Amino acid sequence: MLRVTPLAKDFCAEIGGVDFNAPLNRSVVIDLRDALDTYSVLVIRDQPMDDDQQVVFSKYFGRPEVGKGANPAAGSPFSRQSNLDIKTGEIIQANDRRMLYQKGNMLWHMDSSFKVHSSLCSILTAREVPPEGGNTEFASTRFAYESLSKLQRTAIAELEVEHDIRRSRELTGYIYEPETAKNFIVARHKLVRTNPSTGRKSLLIGVHACGIVGWSNEKSRELLNDLLARAEQSVFSHQWRNNDIVIWDNQAVVHRATPYDASRYRRLMQRTTISLDGIWPSLS
Ligand SMILES: [Fe+2]
Repeated sequence: MLRVTPLAKDFCAEIGGVDFNAPLNRSVVIDLRDALDTYSVLVIRDQPMDDDQQVVFSKYFGRPEVGKGANPAAGSPFSRQSNLDIKTGEIIQANDRRMLYQKGNMLWHMDSSFKVHSSLCSILTAREVPPEGGNTEFASTRFAYESLSKLQRTAIAELEVEHDIRRSRELTGYIYEPETAKNFIVARHKLVRTNPSTGRKSLLIGVHACGIVGWSNEKSRELLNDLLARAEQSVFSHQWRNNDIVIWDNQAVVHRATPYDASRYRRLMQRTTISLDGIWPSLS
């Protein structure tokens, strides 16, 4: 039976009681999905998982995306978060363009919010983590929404927001090669999202959100900055250990990486990103 231990009220829970590499029965999957809907961030400790096992586990949540961007694992179901060269396993130099690219992950964001189909959730497994630093932080955009007055909620109810990773990466000085840039679009999403299972509302914000449709840049920034500041009132910082798995709801939290000594310590994390195709996939 799945064990769910809340780490805060309605936000972040530790999950256990099950071998997640074994085939999961229907009731466990339903409980797992319910826990994600309720807590937005799920932490599993001491569960080693290789690539094949991670893909099998990910499919309980939906369809894993295949990346097309600048990530070294593009073309596979993985997004690799690492300071290690994918071919040699050696530490990448600090001034390498690949490390510059990863700086963008240190800004609050939602994975794949810049795609036509944004992401339902991400699953990140810790294969090799530094002994210090490199936490991942999460902030609730559901709490941000719930901190708004009734009037404010009405005012933003129908707004659409544009997300563009090319513009957000520019903030850290990373400019895409033209060949890669053409894989991306300016994606439009409703600013307010309603979770179909719980009915609770959240906001699609973060660094990729570059403007409100029909609004000036200045007015858009003012609103988006205010909403992000509200989310930052509730931050959970996950300190990684090897063999951790963290699953988060990309419709209800923004997250960011935090620094570590990347010239000294090795770090390898593998992420699968589940596309938001609609509702949870059906269970046979
Ligand atoms: Fe991310």
